[in-house]
Amino acid sequence: MTGTETVLGAPAERREGREKVTGTARYAAEFDVPGRAQGWPVPAAVARGRVTGVDAAPALALPGVVAVLTHENAPRLADPEDPTLALLQSPHVPHRGWFVGLVVGETLEAARAGAAAVRVTYEAEDFDVTLTADHPGAYVPDSANGGFPAVTEHGDPDAAYASSPARVDVEYRVPPLHNHPMEPHASTAWWEGDRLTVHSSSQGTTAVRAELARVFELPEDRITVFAEHVGGGFGSKGTPRPDVVLAATAARATGRPVTVALPRRFLPTVVGHRAPTLHRLRLGADADGRIASLTHEVTTHTSRVKEFVEQAAVPARVMYAAGALRTAHRVAPLDVPTPSWMRAPGECPGMYALESAMDELATGLGIDPVELRIRNEPETEPDSGKPFSSRHLVECLREGARRFGWQERDPRPGARAAGPLLIGSGVAAATYPVLVSPCAASARALPDGGFLVRVNATDIGTGARTVCAQIAADALGVPLERVRIEVADSGIGFAPMAGGSSGTASWGWAVHEACARLVARLAEHSGPLPDDGVLAEADTSGTADAESPYARHAFGAHFAEVTVDTVTGEVRVTRLLGVFAAGRILNARTARSQFVGGMTMGLGMALTEDSTVDPAFGDFTESDLASYHVPAHADVPSVEAYWVDEDDAHLNPMGSKGIGEIGIVGSAAAVGNAVHHATGIRFRELPLTPDRVL
Ligand code: MOS
Repeated sequence: MTGTETVLGAPAERREGREKVTGTARYAAEFDVPGRAQGWPVPAAVARGRVTGVDAAPALALPGVVAVLTHENAPRLADPEDPTLALLQSPHVPHRGWFVGLVVGETLEAARAGAAAVRVTYEAEDFDVTLTADHPGAYVPDSANGGFPAVTEHGDPDAAYASSPARVDVEYRVPPLHNHPMEPHASTAWWEGDRLTVHSSSQGTTAVRAELARVFELPEDRITVFAEHVGGGFGSKGTPRPDVVLAATAARATGRPVTVALPRRFLPTVVGHRAPTLHRLRLGADADGRIASLTHEVTTHTSRVKEFVEQAAVPARVMYAAGALRTAHRVAPLDVPTPSWMRAPGECPGMYALESAMDELATGLGIDPVELRIRNEPETEPDSGKPFSSRHLVECLREGARRFGWQERDPRPGARAAGPLLIGSGVAAATYPVLVSPCAASARALPDGGFLVRVNATDIGTGARTVCAQIAADALGVPLERVRIEVADSGIGFAPMAGGSSGTASWGWAVHEACARLVARLAEHSGPLPDDGVLAEADTSGTADAESPYARHAFGAHFAEVTVDTVTGEVRVTRLLGVFAAGRILNARTARSQFVGGMTMGLGMALTEDSTVDPAFGDFTESDLASYHVPAHADVPSVEAYWVDEDDAHLNPMGSKGIGEIGIVGSAAAVGNAVHHATGIRFRELPLTPDRVL
């Protein structure tokens, strides 16, 4: 057979690309099943308190309004796993914008008009939404997001710091940030007797089905969840969200199919956010820049609905050979919306702070910042003492420096100008852990010579179905065109969500396993294939989650060039260049897209993205894309992504590490460090908007 030796790693085009660009790909809100009604939520207008009354009559009097559901009349649900989904069950309002009602209408317009006409009265209580480093309510949690211990300590960081000749003691602030996927969260649900069918815009149907089974007290096999096309998620669709619970609740209450498509302006409150993080970094080093003491302490907020602790001090456990090391998290529960995952939770804000502090140390010592990082390269993972399965950070730094032209840089801050523009460049490192979860998959050999591979992966725009097909073709030893793939259907089997940069590793491991078993079965088979083909199944529960004796992480290096306008205070990124070491790259085209997308999101974090908790009302001020500024094309300069090949035998059968998140990790620090190089001024609060810079 020809071409199969290069199928893994080849820049295969997205299989659903044509459907998407021609508009025939159907998203969750677009399943216009007969009799479908539309739901529009009613958000709470107080920041804390309780609903004392609901007058639905003005809404019900409007044409096309089908029902007004509130805690007074909505079907009773069992307690969800995720308390943010206990919707329309109680008059309690834990934060502003919490949904206190859902209006169902014949059309979206009717539902919307109905929602505006519902009269809700409240008993309001005092509230607190303001995070400070010394907030009296802050405590050390049992663990941070991901199950990491909240505090780790090695050696005596305070003594080592006190006796270090070079010291950095700095604070940084990363504001709340929002995922804002292009496709807002949406679900269409309908019941047939006690069978529930749902199309949901989700990063994983397995978790959606499990939560629906729990709240509706149904066996999972009565529920089918599809997520065929998903217009981005960035973590905010990693767990089921209010749209799916409300759609299924309203469908049950009205006996009709119901779509709940959350309006963009409701997203900031109800689908999670990156919690603000306040960082204190202390680095103590000798005159050569060797770090004797590293302390990274983080304070963040969570809601009163559930505890979520952004694990921003965790990357400091991985990065540098510090003689003494302390990492710590504290969290203050406030009357704010519930934070959650946003692309590289923990690593993203944590590495902004750590990599900015490393730059401050380099600048203070007069050591090149690339060289400073190389000097502090650890032999084993600092926190665990485990050997790295592979670690090519130094190669990424050197290769990036070479491609970027770093050696021509004048290290003096403020040395380069062009008219009113100051020009600078900066560097920062990146890291993201290798995660993998159990998954099921099947592979079938068909009489027509094709193969059908089924895995409940979700393709959130990453190219997941394409890469799974490549993995299958490689394992089967056949050309890619002979592999058909079916994904994003809870009926296929259990699978982890598209998150934690673990999707391809997890789904791919099961696909590889199923295909390898099929090849073995076919080797024993003689004669023509039966009409339904020959089937092989795999379930990687026994292998994929085995504890590794190795520390497994991807690494990378970002280089940024900026201009700072001394008249307007405007920072423009003119160049971003990243080099990543992430195991084997399975599809050069979609991988580059992930890296470039992550780097671009980091550019937004550095320069424009900013959610503000409004102390007067208790909600986020920015609730649309006119006020929450994600990079537009004009903001995105040349973004180059490269990788160094890694041959790592301690990963999965494909030899891959995750790539979905590492692109955003460290890119904001590279931009901030470049702004310092341009201006000689260190800004320690993101984003670097003109009002701060001028
Ligand atoms: Mo990602 S924040 O793990 O979807």
